Amino acid sequence: MEFFIDTANLDRIREAQDLGVLDGVTTNPSLMAKEGITGEENIIQHYLDICEICDGPVSAEVISTDFDGIVAEGEKLAALHKNIVVKVPMIRDGVKALRYFTDKGIKTNCTLVFSAGQALLAAKAGATYVSPFVGRLDDISTDGMALIEQIRLIYDNYGYETKILAASVRHTMHVIQCAEAGSDVMTGPLSAIIGLLKHPLTDIGLEKFLADHKKATQVQA
Ligand code: E4P
Repeated sequence: MEFFIDTANLDRIREAQDLGVLDGVTTNPSLMAKEGITGEENIIQHYLDICEICDGPVSAEVISTDFDGIVAEGEKLAALHKNIVVKVPMIRDGVKALRYFTDKGIKTNCTLVFSAGQALLAAKAGATYVSPFVGRLDDISTDGMALIEQIRLIYDNYGYETKILAASVRHTMHVIQCAEAGSDVMTGPLSAIIGLLKHPLTDIGLEKFLADHKKATQVQA
């Protein structure tokens, strides 16, 4: 499973990159705003900065909601860097734009997906990635992970090449469940990735190994 980090914070992206397990980055307008990135020039520069740090797919979301606007914005974003993936919302004009981008060889990430039907439509339109939001479904007492399983089944039934990008991943257990469900990619905070390495028996075991080594070294001396 590929690991993407869901942030527009350059320090967090550098930290994840430094760990050596980062495959890509996803952003959205809220995450950009959180970093105080406003104005077209700054937004463009920020995407370029992210691409400089991580040599993997970087999702950049369009703001337009009509076909012409989505296409104009998406083409501009895609021309910025070879790693840019145009993030398009799951709306009627978005589906139409997904097909347009696919036919032009532009990579896409269909975002704000909350049902199997929407995921099927994204695959039919040739989306490169589909982003079901597991955390936001969990937030409303609906099993987000069950949606990943459902989409996996549907895509495998027909051999759709659209990659399942489990989004709105909030914590480490989500990451493990995504892997169990056969998600191609997960995107979440760095803390969810770091959580994977934690186990008290590892810490206890290491402490004992180091203490035994120290004792043995002292005996020899
Ligand atoms: C997806 O690409 C979105 O950027 C993101 O995962 C949404 O996560 P949230 O529900 O934690 O805001």
